[in-house]
Amino acid sequence: MLTIIPQVLPRDEALALGRAIAAADWVDGSVTSGPAATLVKRNRQLPEDGEAARSARGRVQQALGASALFLSAALPRAIYPPLFNRYGPGEHYGDHVDNALRIDPATGARLRTDLSATLFLSEDYDGGELTIAGDFGRMAYKLAAGDMVLYPATSLHRVNAVTRGERICAFFWVESLVRDGAAREVLFDLDQTIQALNARHGGGGGGGDPQSLRLTKVYHNLVRRWAG
Ligand code: NI
Repeated sequence: MLTIIPQVLPRDEALALGRAIAAADWVDGSVTSGPAATLVKRNRQLPEDGEAARSARGRVQQALGASALFLSAALPRAIYPPLFNRYGPGEHYGDHVDNALRIDPATGARLRTDLSATLFLSEDYDGGELTIAGDFGRMAYKLAAGDMVLYPATSLHRVNAVTRGERICAFFWVESLVRDGAAREVLFDLDQTIQALNARHGGGGGGGDPQSLRLTKVYHNLVRRWAG
């Protein structure tokens, strides 16, 4: 399942964040990919331990924690500390798969990458589409600043060459409590339906409507079965 999460950050704030980190020092993007990926990767990355990255990372982490849609879709057990990349004219990242395992630099814990995410922090560029191969063919994503695409980390994907301007994004991986993507999709559909029913009936937590309450019970019991 691929999910667009609109306005994880408000657009103006996302653009301001992109401008702020653009002014910092960047390094060659091959630092976070294996030798095979280096062959197809031409971009730049913000050093993880710099002040600009630390500050921006904190803001993105805070926004993720506050995004009900993200939490519902990802059911995160662990979120890799967000990284930032940048593509100027001629830079691109050819078809690749993300590594299955990552070591969280903050905790030393191993993280299985179930989901990949890209949060857009600039808009004034041409090219630079994130294209993802999925069940329904290859789709291209170029979202407004502040919007995020969350997609299966199992997917083959690439970033097309930028032809003008600067594409600046945050990216990270999620290990989900529910490893199986199909099960996660069922839980997401159920949760979103319950939220909509609760909004319609005006009762939080299903309290206003017995059927919503029963669906809420089903949701939590499925999480109990499927959360690893
Ligand atoms: Ni990738």
